[in-house]
Amino acid sequence: MELITKAPKGTFDILPDKSNQWQIIEMVMRSEAEMNGFAEVRTPVFEHTELFLRGVGDTTDVVEKQMYTFEDKGGRSITLRPEGTAGAVRAMLESGLYNGGFPVKLYYNTTCYRYEKPQAGRLREFHQFGVEMFGAAEAAADAQVIAMAVSTIERLGLQNIGLKLNSIGCPTCRAEYHKALKEYFLGYKEELCETCVSRLDRNPMRILDCKSPVCAEIAKGAPKILDYICDDCREHFEQVQACLKAVDIDYEIDTSLVRGLDYYTRTVFEFVSNDIGAQGAVGGGGRYDGLVEQLGGNPTAGIGYAMGLDRIMLVMQAQGLELPEPEKCEVYIASMNKEANVRAFALTNDLHRCGVFADCDLCGRGLKAQMKYANKIGAKFTIVLGEEELAQNQAKMKNMKTGETTSVSLGDNFVDEYITVVTTAEDLSL
Ligand code: HAM
Repeated sequence: MELITKAPKGTFDILPDKSNQWQIIEMVMRSEAEMNGFAEVRTPVFEHTELFLRGVGDTTDVVEKQMYTFEDKGGRSITLRPEGTAGAVRAMLESGLYNGGFPVKLYYNTTCYRYEKPQAGRLREFHQFGVEMFGAAEAAADAQVIAMAVSTIERLGLQNIGLKLNSIGCPTCRAEYHKALKEYFLGYKEELCETCVSRLDRNPMRILDCKSPVCAEIAKGAPKILDYICDDCREHFEQVQACLKAVDIDYEIDTSLVRGLDYYTRTVFEFVSNDIGAQGAVGGGGRYDGLVEQLGGNPTAGIGYAMGLDRIMLVMQAQGLELPEPEKCEVYIASMNKEANVRAFALTNDLHRCGVFADCDLCGRGLKAQMKYANKIGAKFTIVLGEEELAQNQAKMKNMKTGETTSVSLGDNFVDEYITVVTTAEDLSL
C-alpha cells in the first residue's frame, strides 16, 4: 500500500526534537498568565459557525475567506475555530463564569485554523496562546494585558519586538469615521478589489486591513481614526499610555493599525518582529467591549490578546536563542538474561515512583547494544544485572562521566542507596 507521508498543506508535526522547546515557551506563557490571576479555559476545536459570524464579523477576511466550515451529519453548520476569543466568550456565558464576580480572567493554549495561502509564519493550523479578561473597563486592564505580553516576550529572551498601539474608538465615534472613510474610498471605487467594494457600505474600516497591494496603497491616504475618536475614547487611550509609561513600556502609535477582526473597540495593539519576513506580527489583541453583548450576554467589557507560538518559534530560531535541553536519562539498568531483565524492570519502576528518570532494556538487546543505547540517551549512571548480581542482591553502579563505581543493594534500600550515590556525585560535582 502507498505510504501516506504528507501532512495537509499548511500544517506540520511538532516532533520530539522540538517539542521540548514548545513546552518551555508554553510554560513561560502559562506562568505569566497565572501570576496575573488568569486560569485556563479549554474550549472545543469546533463551534457553531454562527459564533464566528457574529463574533469575529462577517466582513472580515477570516470569516469571508478563511474559515474551515462544514455541515456535520446532523445538518449543523460547524467551523473549526479560527481564533480563541469568541469561544472563550461563549464558554464564559454558557457556564455563567461571570457569576463569580468580575474580572473573569481566562487563558488558553490552542490550535486555530485558517484557510490561508501558506508561507513562512502563515499556516492553516497554527498555535495561539491567548488571554481574555472580562468585566474590566479601566485603562489599567488594557495596560495589564499588554504588560503581561511584554513580560512574556522578555522572559523568552526575544529581541527587537516592537509594540504598535492604536485606538479605534467606540461605535459612537466610529459612525463619523465610517462616513469619512466611505467618502474617501468612494473616490477610488474603480481601483479597489471586489471584496473591498462590497465593504464600502457594510464596513469601510475593513478596507484598511485588505492585503491587496492596490487597496493597501490607497488605504495609506485614508482618514485616521485618531482624528475622529470621542472625548471618552481619547481619555481612555491617554490613560492606557500613562499606565504603559509608568512601567517603562515602549510603544509606537500606529494610526493604520485596525486589526483584522470586527469585535475590537478602543485600544488595539500588535507585537511585531522584523526578523521573520512578511508575517511579522507575533501577537496582537485589544479591547472588545461590545462582543459579550453581541453574543447574547449583558454588556460586559473585554480585553485580551493572543500570541502566535509558531511565529515566536521562528523569532527564536532567527535570533539563535537557545532553550534548555530536555532532561536526560539519569540511570540505565542493563540486564544480561531474562530473569535480570524482570529485576531491571522492577527496579526501574521503583525509581519512576520516586520521580527518577530511569530506563531499562525493552528491545531484547545484548549487553553491548544496551550500553550503546544507554550512551545514546545520555544516561548519567548505569547498572548491569547478571546472575552474580541477582545472587548477591548487590550491583555496581557506574558514574558514566568519571568511570567511578559504587555498590548498591538491590533490596528494599535500592532507591535510598541510589539517591545517596547520585547526591554525593552531585555534591562533588562529578
Ligand atoms: P490575530 O491577530 O488574528 O488575533 O492572531 C493572533 C496571532 O496569531 C497573530 O499575531 C499571529 O502571530 C498568529 N497568527 C494568526 N494567523 C496565523 C496564521 N495563519 N499562521 C500562523 N500564525 C498566525 C486573534 O486571533 C485575536 N483572537 C487575539 C485576541 C485575543 N484579541 C483579543 N483577545
